[in-house]
Amino acid sequence: MARLAALLVSLAMLMAAVTAARVERAGAGFYTPPSPSTCGLKIGYYHDKCPHAEAIVKGVVAAALHRDPGVGAGLIRMLFHDCFVEGCDASVLLDPTPANPQPEKLAPPNNPSLRGFEVIDAAKDAVEAACPGVVSCADIVAFAARDASFFLSDSRVSFDMPSGRLDGRYSNASRALDFLPPPTFNLGQLVANFAAKGLSVETWALFTSDASLLASPATAKMVVDNANIPGWWEDRFKTAMVKMAAVEVKTGSNGEIRRHCRAVN
Ligand code: HEM
Repeated sequence: MARLAALLVSLAMLMAAVTAARVERAGAGFYTPPSPSTCGLKIGYYHDKCPHAEAIVKGVVAAALHRDPGVGAGLIRMLFHDCFVEGCDASVLLDPTPANPQPEKLAPPNNPSLRGFEVIDAAKDAVEAACPGVVSCADIVAFAARDASFFLSDSRVSFDMPSGRLDGRYSNASRALDFLPPPTFNLGQLVANFAAKGLSVETWALFTSDASLLASPATAKMVVDNANIPGWWEDRFKTAMVKMAAVEVKTGSNGEIRRHCRAVN
């Protein structure tokens, strides 16, 4: 919990750098691509198809965090690690098989540190019991990350998560290495990594931390100011989560609703 609180605080502080970075880069002709839309996703997508789907996931996440608050951090990170590799399609959840022995979840950025898989399994089981074959694992990952943010923020981060994603059928560890940024990346590399997914400098900075901000009096002041404006960071975090959760989503014929989140149908 302390670790997540520290992470959230550092994330909040980082927005201070954004303005400076943007101004500097704008001067250099830096291009920030448009943020992705919600790509056919819809708030309340399951309203008619499975009315209690979101409430069921939230209940499972609440119970899991009650047992182990730290797993909430894992669920937030899981959305990021899913969306940046093949889009938000639950490809990170697929287990190895003889035909596919090295899925994403075995790649070093995920293995062994990514956690929360069993919470997604429990949520899927509960949702399947209510509405078999209706709710995708990709949507469950997105709902779970939203719900974890809600509980870990003492309900300050509360937002609608559009849904309607389909689950992918492809997962390869090498793609996780291609797209998940290592901690050794410098600022330019991180911004480029996010831009490649249609996400802006602001979105990147919200999710990143850099103690060097505190070294400069100008950015340090911004850090303090930003940390002191109630709700400022939370509002941006909500928007950033929704944008990230729309990266390269599958909504047409290129996906499926998995029966089990760890295996393709
Ligand atoms: C921008 C580039 C990023 C880098 C280089 C990065 C790197 C890392 C690393 C190295 C860890 C520690 C993993 C371990 O326990 O060994 C971590 C944890 C974490 N990251 Fe990131 N991360 C990035 C972006 C993000 C984003 C976008 C999010 C959220 C949307 C996020 C959320 C988290 C969370 C919540 C944890 C703690 C996970 C846990 O305790 O289970 N990170 N990150």
